[in-house]
Amino acid sequence: MINKELKEYIEKNIFPKYEKYYSHGMIHINNVINNVLMLADYYNLDKNMCYVIASFHDVGLNIDRENHELMSGKILNEDKVLKQYFDKNQITIMKEAVEDHRGSRKECPRNIYGEVLSDSDRDFDIFLLAKRQLATSLKNYPEVKTFDEHFERCYKYITNRINKEGHFNLWTNNPILVERREKFEKDYLNKEYAKTVYKEEYDRIEKDGTMEKIINYYEDY
Ligand SMILES: [Fe+2]
Ligand SMILES: [Fe+2]
Repeated sequence: MINKELKEYIEKNIFPKYEKYYSHGMIHINNVINNVLMLADYYNLDKNMCYVIASFHDVGLNIDRENHELMSGKILNEDKVLKQYFDKNQITIMKEAVEDHRGSRKECPRNIYGEVLSDSDRDFDIFLLAKRQLATSLKNYPEVKTFDEHFERCYKYITNRINKEGHFNLWTNNPILVERREKFEKDYLNKEYAKTVYKEEYDRIEKDGTMEKIINYYEDY
């Protein structure tokens, strides 16, 4: 169980910081929280620490886009309220975990919390990936006008990564995540199927106004 007051503090003070994020917004954060807590059970980790790292991990995005992991780590490290719940050593472990969560990182995270966070940050779900990747594409490539072009860009990016690395790296090689990754890669490499999923998402956000908001309101990328 997560400490009730700690949870309330984070819900009130940290989650609102994600309000202007879409692909890194609360849908993503809640997904990472669920994954991290699932792995916390598996590896018998401190659940409060797991909840904190998942909640803080992308919060530094709009301060320094390129080095958001470091910024998120700094925010966690300097948070005065967290110091009421954790000792110095725990704060350092959490800070390092957040700093090490970048997916393209080549060296293993410095501690198990970092490994668990980094693995939990993966989108091994084609629906979630479609949502996040299309938003990123719309935001960063305003010159791209058609669904087909957006899809091809997104698809090339992921298939390149799958082909180059063999598959997405996992630090823990947790069997539950390995199984999810297999299903995800199988779904994704079926291009016709992937395109159908992306098209449905594209049509949905175009119709309900989300696309407009991604371009003009949300601040993440
Ligand atoms: Fe991140
Ligand atoms: Fe993230």
